[in-house]
This record gives sequence, structure tokens and C-alpha cells, in this order.
Amino acid sequence: MRGDAVDQAVDRAAGRPKVVLGVSGGIAAYKACELLRRLTESGHDVRVVPTASALHFVGAATWSALSGHPVSAEVWSEVHEVPHVRIGQHADLVVVAPATADMLAKAAHGLADDLLTNTLLTARCPVVFAPAMHTEMWEHPATQENVATLRRRGAVVIEPAVGRLTGVDTGKGRLPDPDEIFEICRRVLARGVRAPDLAGRHVVVSAGGTREPLDPVRYLGNRSSGKQGYALARTAAARGARVTLLEANTGLPDPAGVDVVHVGTAVQLREAVLKAAADADAVVMAAAVADFRPATYAEGKIKKKDGVEAPALTLVRNPDILAEISAERARPGQVIVGFAAETDDVLANGRDKLRRKGCDLLVVNEVGERKTFGSEENEAVVLSADGGETTVPHGPKEALADTVWDLVTPRLF
Ligand code: CTP
Repeated sequence: MRGDAVDQAVDRAAGRPKVVLGVSGGIAAYKACELLRRLTESGHDVRVVPTASALHFVGAATWSALSGHPVSAEVWSEVHEVPHVRIGQHADLVVVAPATADMLAKAAHGLADDLLTNTLLTARCPVVFAPAMHTEMWEHPATQENVATLRRRGAVVIEPAVGRLTGVDTGKGRLPDPDEIFEICRRVLARGVRAPDLAGRHVVVSAGGTREPLDPVRYLGNRSSGKQGYALARTAAARGARVTLLEANTGLPDPAGVDVVHVGTAVQLREAVLKAAADADAVVMAAAVADFRPATYAEGKIKKKDGVEAPALTLVRNPDILAEISAERARPGQVIVGFAAETDDVLANGRDKLRRKGCDLLVVNEVGERKTFGSEENEAVVLSADGGETTVPHGPKEALADTVWDLVTPRLF
């Protein structure tokens, strides 16, 4: 039987997605207040479950006032309402932010010694962990194994951000920006109870456009904004993947929860792709790679001189990264996806490119002055090596990204 207080809370919250915000004891707990605000202001019914250590950083009164619910860290209050079971059972999403090394260890091993760890065991909804800790603790094999265990079981564990940590240290381990964690929660909730189908997988996505320098101030580049690649990285993270994003000249802020490697030229991108692809389940080459680079690089700025002809530009071919990784797969069964930007005979050129590149899927889109570049939306046809053709109507780049992952997942080894 439900207690009165629970009944009233359920009535009030009817129809609103129910989110449990677990907070464990790290200095980043204060950032969870902002995440809580984003969640409640966008119509979610949020129940905060801190650990006892989290309450050293932010008190119960703050959580309670911001969430509109009572707050307790242990299982001994309101025992008649069986909170250690009910809170998890009723949740549509559990997000733990920050998740300390201790919390990840407890969750991986199924310990249940407070309200949050009990909630994690009773929840049958998607669970997102946003770890935050010092770099050494994050990199420790114990933590990494716990993270791998949680991912294998279907939890979404987002990669910590790189930057200033507590004290004077900098490195990997920062809690990502609350807005970014909120976006991941929104995407995970939108997928509903469907299991994160990329959990336990490592995917590599390249994004942006390479720049080939002519001299210290000039380069040959292209108009790729990188937004489609970022959408692929973000959606893969929300589907539980460990994501490596290889970023070329986008100027976009690093998305939360993914490892970002910054590159400039096609040669640098090739190196980064080969390294990241070594243990990847899937590689998506969304970056626009320059096919040619200047044969020589002028150490000083190339100057115009009166009476002297403009210098001729000699170009040499860049490596074709997509063709190379498709021909020599780093792992058996690795799924490789290319993009084809075409201005004419879009589908015929796409089919031809799919054959030439040797990848499994090719996302073909028409580009031009006003199409695709820089826009928030896209439309495409995804061709597959086995003859399939999936049309993705005009819509957000995230929708196209999700279709790509829908086509990748059944092909994974
Ligand atoms: N690509 C690559 N290495 C290159 C060029 C392109 O890996 N040197 C990849 C892109 O990341 C993309 C795909 O190949 O996934 C197709 O890119 P696109 O520019 O459309 O094709 P091109 O190889 O330039 O072919 P074409 O010159 O016929 O347009």
C-alpha cells in the first residue's frame, strides 16, 4: 500500500517524467544544483537522493527546496513507504552526478548500504553516471574496470571532462557542464526503456574539416561545420557508447561525456583515426578530409611582389583514410561508415563511392552553398554495402545520427 505522502507526490507528478538525481560526495556536488534546476524547469519531477558524504558539500535543505521533495540519504526515514525500493521502481531515469570513484565501485559490485545504492539496485530504467574525481582515481585500473562493468551492463557512463580540478591540479576528471549532462539525460529519456544499444562499445567519430597549411597564416580548407559529427558523438554517448571524437577545426566546444582529440590536417587525422580505431567497434568518418595538400609549406608568409607573377600552387594527394581503414580493418567485424558530400548525380556518385571506399555504410547528402553546411538540419540517403538504402527525411542532425547508429548496431560483431 502506498503512503499518503507518496500518493500525493505521484498525483502531483502525474505525466511528468520521473528522474532520480543521485549525488555522491565530491566537490562537484554544487554543480548538480544547476542540473536539478534544468531538469525541474523543463518539466521533470526530480527526486534527489544524495549520499551522506554529498550532504557535507550541499545540504538537504537546498536539494529539498529545489526539487520540492523531501530528501534523505539513508533508508531509515519514512520506512513505512519503503523508499529504498519505491524510488528506484518508479523512476524513468536515474542520473548520478557527480559519481565518485567510491560510488562507481559500489554500483559495479551491487553494494546497497544507503538510499542511493539501494535505488540503483531497484531501478529498471536507464541509468546515467557522470563521474568526477581526480585524474589518478579515474585512470586507476580499479575505477576503469568498474566503469567497464557498468557499461557492459547497460549503464551510460559519460567520460569526465578535462580541465581544472580541485586545488591546483588540471587533468581529466571534471564533472561535465550541467547543461551538457542535462542534454544527455534528455536524449536517454527520449529513447525510453530501450536498452542503450551501444553500451560496452567503443565508437570513433571524426568531425569537422581538415586544413592544409600553405604558410603560417594561410590554409586550404573546406566548409564543414562539424555539427553532424558532433550529433553522432552525442547520440552515441546517450546510447551508452564510449566515444572518441576526432575534431578538426570546428571551433565547437567539446561535447560532454566523450573523449575529444583535436587535429588539424588530413595527415594528423589519419594518425588519430588509426590510433583510436585499434580497439573500436565502429568508425564513422563524418569529417570532410582535404584530398590534396600544398606540396610545400612556406616557413614565412608568402609575400606578393610588384612585377612578379602570382605563385603557382602545386598540390599532392592526401591519404584516403576511409579507404585505408576499410581495406585493413583494425578488428574483425569492425563497422565502418563514410559520408559522401555530393553536388551532382548524388545517388549514382554515392553508390560508386561506397564501392570505391569499401566501407559498410555511406551517408550520402547533397551539399551546396545553402545546403547542409553549418545548418542544424540535414537529409540524406544511407547506402549499405549489401544493397540497402535508407532515406532519412529533412530533420535535425541528431535524427540522422540516430538512424546511422540504428543501422550500425545490428552489424556489430
Ligand atoms: N575521406 C577520407 N580521406 C580522404 C577523403 C575523404 O577518409 N582523403 C572520407 C570522408 O571522411 C568521407 C568520405 O571519405 O567519409 C567521402 O568524402 P568525400 O569528400 O565525399 O569523397 P572523396 O574521397 O573526396 O571523393 P571525390 O573526390 O570523388 O568526391
